[in-house]
Amino acid sequence: MSELLSVKIAKAAPTGATAVAVAVFADRLTKVDGVRKAALDRAGFSGRVGDSLVLDDGERARVLVGVGRIAAVGTAELRTAAAVFARAVARHRRVAVDYPEGLDLDPADGVRAITEGLILGAYRFDTYKSSTTPGLSAATISVGDRVRSVQAGAAKGRATAEAVCFARDLVNEPGGSLTPTVFAQRAAERAEAAGLTAEVMDHEAIVAAGLGGVLAVNQGSVEPPRLLKLTYEPTPVGDEPVEGEVPEPDAVDTLALVGKGITFDSGGLSLKPAESMMEMKCDMAGAAAVVATMCALPALDVAVKVVAFTPMTDNMTGGAAQRPGDIYTARNGTTVEVLNTDAEGRLVLADALSLAADEEPDAIIDLATLTGACMVALGQKVAGLMGNDEVFSGIVEEAAAIAGERVWQLPLPADYRKGLESPVADLKNIAGGRYGGALTAGLFLKEFVADDTPWVHLDIAGPAFLPEPDGESPKGATGFGVRTLLTLLESWGDEMELLEELEELEAELG
Ligand code: BES
Ligand code: MN
Ligand code: ZN
Repeated sequence: MSELLSVKIAKAAPTGATAVAVAVFADRLTKVDGVRKAALDRAGFSGRVGDSLVLDDGERARVLVGVGRIAAVGTAELRTAAAVFARAVARHRRVAVDYPEGLDLDPADGVRAITEGLILGAYRFDTYKSSTTPGLSAATISVGDRVRSVQAGAAKGRATAEAVCFARDLVNEPGGSLTPTVFAQRAAERAEAAGLTAEVMDHEAIVAAGLGGVLAVNQGSVEPPRLLKLTYEPTPVGDEPVEGEVPEPDAVDTLALVGKGITFDSGGLSLKPAESMMEMKCDMAGAAAVVATMCALPALDVAVKVVAFTPMTDNMTGGAAQRPGDIYTARNGTTVEVLNTDAEGRLVLADALSLAADEEPDAIIDLATLTGACMVALGQKVAGLMGNDEVFSGIVEEAAAIAGERVWQLPLPADYRKGLESPVADLKNIAGGRYGGALTAGLFLKEFVADDTPWVHLDIAGPAFLPEPDGESPKGATGFGVRTLLTLLESWGDEMELLEELEELEAELG
């Protein structure tokens, strides 16, 4: 957790900058000032996103940064390229970026993406390093005469990147230091400072609320569980005030977010092998993404009400740990036979989803590092998206695409639900068998969501935590999901109109 990169907007690159990024289009390699294409070829530089080439004369380095074919440059390309640049100049202190000309893009959006990419690429987690080499501290984006028109974009980019980095910091923090108590407190403090309402449920409150799944998972731990509820209320906007009348604020939608907050997943008595346990501090990445997203809503002036529920506990093996075969009662009354204590995420999420349902939200999204099976299906870089409403799933997919986070829809086949039937309880927590584990986990969650509430489940087990840096993501925690959620929430009004129109249409058609 080091200082975030400071990004400024200026007419021209400042004299103090020791490196300047020059965007290079993959289909304009012959147009690079002072460098012949043959030289680029020899250096293996092809102008693709991800390519960079440092030309350093000792005075000021020129860094060629690939942004792909000119017609295909969008915000995602700029964001990634800016991050690749930030990593290439990690040993500089002050650098600059020349905003590329000739793009078919609103410069405010372009600057926003570059700002995000620079901060995300410069991120480091060095809380526990006794000594660190000084890293990047400031970057200037030079935009010529457009300074004023792009400032708001830069500010939004900063707010977004700050949220992603907050999520990364939380996830990178080891399970032994980010206990549920610490996690909830740190999140609540930050949320309150941002202007949200925070309610922390402690063990007693969790017992009183009957959160059986959270308690079942927590049984094997010496650390008490927490459930954090955050609420964001948009600033009311109403019709023009009429004299003598109390202005009625417009009714706003409510979205509920739910995030898996397993601060460490040992597997419980269904213990994980050492290899698989090493990264399990990342098992609260869903909750971290949700919390970080919430904290950024005021800065982005989001117009929808958002409530978030993040259950927090570790999954340990203490003497009181739940045993395979144990049965507990979930918050909504469903009894669950726990045949594998390592399928714990769904137990805590089920309770949180049922709490979310009480808010009567217009839609629910949950994020969870839920299954290894999802990584088998989609690899490390793509999240699985499941849901109960095609239109809403499409809206979330679209937001993810704009945000530059990769998701892929997986089905929730109704007949696979049979696998979750238990001979002794209402449900069992695993379907048995090796196949389709991401889907049966999704189907388990679906049991705790009302059919008429649009709901999306993002299984982020792969992209939440990476073994190698990739684009704007460093090794380790990525903050995956924050950008998708923020993109979605920022454009909520328009999205919901679409959803409602389509639902009316569907109803008409029968
Ligand atoms: N936290 C894990 C899933 C996970 C795996 C996240 C790898 C990140 C990286 C989850 O709690 C889990 O253990 N799932 C089991 C479910 C199984 C027992 C049905 C799994 O995927 O093996
Ligand atoms: Mn597990
Ligand atoms: Zn887990």
